[in-house]
Amino acid sequence: MPKFVLTGAGGGIGGVAADYALEIAQPGQKLLFTTSNLGKLPAGRADGWKAKGAEVAEANYDDVESLKKVFEGAEVVAFISTWALGERPRQAANVLAAAKATGVKRVCYTSFIGAGLGNDSAEARQRDVKTIPFLPQDHVQTERLIRGSGLQWNIQRDYLYQDNAAAFFSQSWKFCGDRWLNNSGGRRGAYVAREDCGRVFGALLMGKAEPDTCHTLTGPEAVTDREIFDYINSVSGYKAEFVDMTDDALAAWWRERGLPDNAINGDFSQLPMKLCIPDLLCCGEMVAQGHMAEVTDAVEKLTGRKALGFKENYKKYEQLFPRND
Ligand SMILES: NC(=O)c1ccc[n+]([C@@H]2O[C@H](COP(=O)([O-])OP(=O)(O)OC[C@H]3O[C@@H](n4cnc5c(N)ncnc54)[C@H](OP(=O)(O)O)[C@@H]3O)[C@@H](O)[C@H]2O)c1
Repeated sequence: MPKFVLTGAGGGIGGVAADYALEIAQPGQKLLFTTSNLGKLPAGRADGWKAKGAEVAEANYDDVESLKKVFEGAEVVAFISTWALGERPRQAANVLAAAKATGVKRVCYTSFIGAGLGNDSAEARQRDVKTIPFLPQDHVQTERLIRGSGLQWNIQRDYLYQDNAAAFFSQSWKFCGDRWLNNSGGRRGAYVAREDCGRVFGALLMGKAEPDTCHTLTGPEAVTDREIFDYINSVSGYKAEFVDMTDDALAAWWRERGLPDNAINGDFSQLPMKLCIPDLLCCGEMVAQGHMAEVTDAVEKLTGRKALGFKENYKKYEQLFPRND
């Protein structure tokens, strides 16, 4: 009975991937979902998966032995990038070592737009990772490890999520004086719904793509941040201003208010969002530099469902939209 292991099932992408993998699994395919902390799963989540036939266990990317235990006998393993910026290639190396030690055939990974800058040609593979924008750096290194592992692989390169603006950036607008301070330079980006990334990840796990293929996941249209801002505020009635800023001015503004340069050791207790300065800047840079301009049909091809547009996706976030005091 072929065994498919989805790690990181407790996260946003992981949870959707788990549900979707169960939806499309064929009789005789065995599913095992792992999380780094069973105690953090919402009540009933693990029992719901078990009721549909999946096993649920604990495994941690920082602990190779825990990974080997759950990978034993698996054909395919899917793993997700964490928030441990700078540590993620090391975590990936642990996953790959455990996969090879246990005879896994294929691995799946959630990479990020821009990873091609260090992987898509012989020349790119020679490129110094530090010359690539901050956010894709870990993914470039992780993809290099995967491609060099000798295992079969499937990689999805997620664009920035539509969800970031609705659930994340919008939570900082009041703190910024009823403004979105923004460095995407008025360029368009085809932001993708996180839910679609999760569904694709489930599809890749269950073999819906040819081995050794990479898929760029986008939304159905390229939009500007100002259009997103105007839409959110048209729903909530919030009166606020969209302010274009340079990278340097944006960094200086947030640094003055204590936003840390390092996500792992930084103190975010007085801040509206847990995003370090390089991460925040790079979100705008990826759009401003045109890395998010292309629209692909990968979501529909791999899941049979059209990619969600941001307005549709934002229905579930309306309660979070800021409002004037
Ligand atoms: N494209 C974008 O716009 C964007 C935006 C934000 C983040 N990201 C990246 O995309 C990833 C997935 O997004 P998300 O929204 O699903 O994030 P999330 O909900 O915060 O989930 C974090 C993921 O990391 C896993 N994880 C963390 N530490 C782990 C460990 N030590 N061992 C095993 N698993 C560990 C979690 O698994 P468990 O909870 O099961 O332990 C979970 O799957 C993020 O982690 C981040 O790298 C992308």
